[in-house]
Amino acid sequence: MTGGGHGTGHGHGGAAGLPDLGLGLGLRTPHLAYVLAEWPEVDWFEIISENFMDSGGYPRHALDRIAERYPVVMHGVSLSIGGSDPLDPDYLARLRALADALPAAWVSDHVCWTGVAGMNTHELLPIPFTEESLRHVARRVEVVQDALRRPLVLENPSTYASFTHSTMTEAEFLGRLCEESGCLLLLDVNNVAVSAFNHGFDPGEYLRALPHDRIAQIHIAGHADHGTHKIDTHDRPVSEAVWDLYAQAIALAGPTATLLEWDDALPAFPDLLAELAKARPYLEAEDGVTAAAHG
Ligand SMILES: [Fe+2]
Repeated sequence: MTGGGHGTGHGHGGAAGLPDLGLGLGLRTPHLAYVLAEWPEVDWFEIISENFMDSGGYPRHALDRIAERYPVVMHGVSLSIGGSDPLDPDYLARLRALADALPAAWVSDHVCWTGVAGMNTHELLPIPFTEESLRHVARRVEVVQDALRRPLVLENPSTYASFTHSTMTEAEFLGRLCEESGCLLLLDVNNVAVSAFNHGFDPGEYLRALPHDRIAQIHIAGHADHGTHKIDTHDRPVSEAVWDLYAQAIALAGPTATLLEWDDALPAFPDLLAELAKARPYLEAEDGVTAAAHG
């Protein structure tokens, strides 16, 4: 790797042959100038694909320079893999062009749908976990993987509603989806904490039920706790409960490329790095639980 930072000794294989990139940050537009000026010590960056797919100009110029020095992963929000509208071949072609140009270490999106009849709600909406939706999503993953010429990495979203006709748990659904489509997982432990609280399931049981050898990446982030429900806000530090789930995830999946997401009330870049650094003892313990026990 040619990144500006590191020192964690990563680079051994992660899930399904994808590299364990170490500790990364979401690359947000207000930080582009800082990164280009300072080349901070961070192992890798994740971009929101849609922010760079269509735009030339300064953001794309900055990204191209950053991609020369750091591994970059693409994270999309508009694929709508669970939707019923046909997949958009133009969107897939533009996604692939960006992935090839950077090149992206991998491409991810969410297990969700975002709209219907050509309308994008810009929300990551929940899907039912049934045999029918599993077949539907698995078929679409295969189309996407053919178009992108690479495996698709899919993230568990945070959800606020579920379907009474679901016949399996989300973790079971994700496992079956990996098996049937060959996709990989982006495990967002903050989303697990949020959804587990909102729906009343055991987050530890969820983590144990996942196919751990398919986890290519982990997201950590902060959420808002409203007492009766939690909302995935990405606007504050990672909570203790989420660090605990992170420790459990590392213990189950081994060292895995980890990314801190922070979107609203964005702190200065060095403050983001300081929050990200809290993940290092968990990652380096190789069984996150030991690190958690030592604080
Ligand atoms: Fe996430």
